[in-house]
Amino acid sequence: MQNANHRITLRSRPTGEAAPENFAADTAPVRAPEPGEVVVESRLISIDPAMRVWISENPGYVPRVEIGEVMRAGGIGQVVESRADGLSAGDWVQGPLGWQTHPTVAAAQLQKLDLSLGSPEDWIGPLGMTGVTAYFGMREVARIRPGETVLVSGAAGAVGQMAGQIAALEACHVVGIAGGSGKTRLLFEEHGFHGAIDYKAEKDLSAAIRRTCPDGIDVFYDNVGGPILEAALDNLRIGARIVICGRISQTAAPQLHGVRNLGNFIGKRARMEGFVVFDYASRYAEARTWIAAHLKSGRLRQRLHIINGLDRAPDGLGMLFRGQNTGKLVVSLGGR
Ligand SMILES: NC(=O)c1ccc[n+]([C@@H]2O[C@H](COP(=O)([O-])OP(=O)(O)OC[C@H]3O[C@@H](n4cnc5c(N)ncnc54)[C@H](OP(=O)(O)O)[C@@H]3O)[C@@H](O)[C@H]2O)c1
Repeated sequence: MQNANHRITLRSRPTGEAAPENFAADTAPVRAPEPGEVVVESRLISIDPAMRVWISENPGYVPRVEIGEVMRAGGIGQVVESRADGLSAGDWVQGPLGWQTHPTVAAAQLQKLDLSLGSPEDWIGPLGMTGVTAYFGMREVARIRPGETVLVSGAAGAVGQMAGQIAALEACHVVGIAGGSGKTRLLFEEHGFHGAIDYKAEKDLSAAIRRTCPDGIDVFYDNVGGPILEAALDNLRIGARIVICGRISQTAAPQLHGVRNLGNFIGKRARMEGFVVFDYASRYAEARTWIAAHLKSGRLRQRLHIINGLDRAPDGLGMLFRGQNTGKLVVSLGGR
């Protein structure tokens, strides 16, 4: 039984992008589990843009991470000691493990992984938060219909790669926006997108969207916000739906970008809607059944971007904001 828990805590709140200096590493004894708790050995830790929001002064709809607290993070690991019914040593679980190697967690906060649906790597991505976010965002918020033109921003990222593929599997015409030719190539070659725009290479993104989607877009699935949202709004079809999934371009921006063309909503009878994936928690199993079937058929693929070692987690958060990840970014703690 391991008795050292390596942890990364929040040292200070960033202004702008988070930097490794905002975090501190330490080692504490593994806390012995109380009845109803388990000790987990973390294997894969998710790195998410929302983490930058959680460490801000006022995160909004979730509590902030306090200074000195272990950084909050979703993760996957194996139970090493259990005092909870229904969980035994060796079981794979997912839940709020944080940036630490050996968290002690209430079993009620954990979900035992059904490995018949997919591997632990599948559970950190398509079967995890990013997959179900894309599933409900596309199917329930956007309400995509076969034949529609769907534009996805942040398309080579964790949620974006899933969102675009889900729309393509539902017989939509899918165009992705991503930064760099390597990422746009990935959208065509691995993810079955029908069109791709490298926004970093375009002087006039609105014109590039018009060129790629000459009849306009029915759905814009937005992970990015700011100038990319504004460019998309110039290209709506009548009855367009805009899904506000995320706004990473604005999350750590020193100055917010004001969207100037909301007038397009009037003539295009468009609808814009934000959502939080947790609202669909009672229906995650439905999403996972659908996603697992498509993963097994090989028609849905995930690109995982793995960085190794807990000490890489703080820089990993910065990678998301610098566009240095391709696909779902995770920290691997080894052990497999
Ligand atoms: N609503 C919900 O319930 C929910 C749930 C989960 C996630 N989300 C949101 O979904 C979005 C995507 O999350 P994710 O985990 O899939 O992250 P991700 O897309 O894997 O990573 C972030 C990507 O954003 C792009 N980016 C960063 N700064 C940008 C900028 N200034 N302009 C344009 N693109 C920029 C980068 O790609 P490029 O190289 O292409 O620029 C980067 O790779 C986030 O905004 C997240 O908060 C929402």
